Amino acid sequence: MKIDVRQGSLLDVDAALVAVGLYEGEALPDEVAEAPGAGDAKGSFKTMTRLYPGDPERLLVVGLGERDELDAEKLRVLAALVAGEAAKVEATSLAWVLPPYEDEAAAAEAIVTGTILGAYRFDRFKGKGDEEDDEPSARLASLTLLAPAELAGAAETARVYSEAANRARDLQETPANFAQPEDLAKRAEEIAAGNDKVTVEILDGDAIRAKGMGGIAAVTQGGPVDARLIVLRYAGGGDGPTLGFIGKGVTFDTGGIVLKPGAGMQEMKFDMSGASAVLEATAAIAELGLPVDLITVVPSTENMPSGTAVKPGDVITQYNGVTVEVNNTDAEGRLILADALAYAIERGAERVIDMATLTGAVVIALGSTYAAVVSNDDELAAELSAAGEESGELVWRLPLHDEYRALMKGTVADLSNLAKKREAGTITASAFLEHFVDETPWAHIDIAGTAWDVNRAYTGKGGSGYGVRLLVQLARDLAG
Ligand code: BES
Ligand code: MN
Ligand code: ZN
Repeated sequence: MKIDVRQGSLLDVDAALVAVGLYEGEALPDEVAEAPGAGDAKGSFKTMTRLYPGDPERLLVVGLGERDELDAEKLRVLAALVAGEAAKVEATSLAWVLPPYEDEAAAAEAIVTGTILGAYRFDRFKGKGDEEDDEPSARLASLTLLAPAELAGAAETARVYSEAANRARDLQETPANFAQPEDLAKRAEEIAAGNDKVTVEILDGDAIRAKGMGGIAAVTQGGPVDARLIVLRYAGGGDGPTLGFIGKGVTFDTGGIVLKPGAGMQEMKFDMSGASAVLEATAAIAELGLPVDLITVVPSTENMPSGTAVKPGDVITQYNGVTVEVNNTDAEGRLILADALAYAIERGAERVIDMATLTGAVVIALGSTYAAVVSNDDELAAELSAAGEESGELVWRLPLHDEYRALMKGTVADLSNLAKKREAGTITASAFLEHFVDETPWAHIDIAGTAWDVNRAYTGKGGSGYGVRLLVQLARDLAG
């Protein structure tokens, strides 16, 4: 989307729809106060009143609620609702008058973010046939923010990370027959080709096996589609430690021999949401030129059942030499992450964050509002919480404890990939991962609840792109 920031009157702006905020109990700007119907406009939060003053042609009065209660999250929601109104009238251009707000840069970011995320649609497979209903309608192509010109930088930053989030949603939505490990690898190659400071390295199945990455090898052996280990490096400089982002890239999770039930299984195309988040966050961080060094690692494979699939009870050896009993083939995410974590650290990652749709348990614990974070480092966990509050992609920390760790001990191998108890499944999965990071500061983020069907105004149903904005915010905070 084209984003333009300029100072000026809303009467002069050339847009198919102009949005102007109204606080509860306050008045509309003078230019439009006398427009027919203006007296009916309400300031209550989320109330929308469409007016046709003629100049501008269409005006949308947006209820902002009480002045002291407005925050960035509410502005993102409002901006998405306005994008919805724009779609209703098939407006391709929109203008927003920046409402009076304490932190103008934050308000500008929130409006740009809410607009771009709110206008998102996945229609790659629609409207190519003769189904009349599927005719794609006009899309919002430009947003003009009537605001001081010095906010252009904030608006541009928000454009970059919000479009990255939408690209992550495209990857999430893309079905598994189109989004295979080699397609994720292609996307990584594209990211590297687009930025001088980004390099890429791809390992195929043979290379993965040759390196002794037994977790990825075991998960991939049940299917015909070849695995990939995708490594992106971004050299942004700065004097902080090298960050490591690891994303679970299971392009389809059937459960393997421990087959999942059929109902709803189609959603398991989203089991690469962690991968899409870390890849597109890396692209955004590079595009913004943030002064951080970053290594991003994505283990990617399908998890399929067959005569060659890994079986319950099989013992494998992970990249760092730890042996694991595969007691449940559906607990595949931790097996591939284990190799990737050890590899990222060996390759120089000094503070590591992994993101994964890892457990159904996190959906029960936190729903789609907060992702769970489990960490061996208080500082990193606190930085993630702060970045979550700032970006609106919230995280809530869950604890580690020796009692959870004990549940992951193997019978004939060092570890089992299945806890001895079902309870606290998000934490026991983390206790497993902890064995692959040694003393490196690490945080695991379980996004099984937040990656899909979040149903916020700006995410809607389907892929949410969760994690892109969180990781970009973290990198911005670390860059100072
Ligand atoms: N990809 C799933 C996690 C998942 C489940 C995400 C439901 C979204 C909705 C993961 O690979 C998985 O199957 N986890 C198992 C682990 C269990 C076997 C220990 C789970 O959570 O049931
Ligand atoms: Mn699984
Ligand atoms: Zn999975």
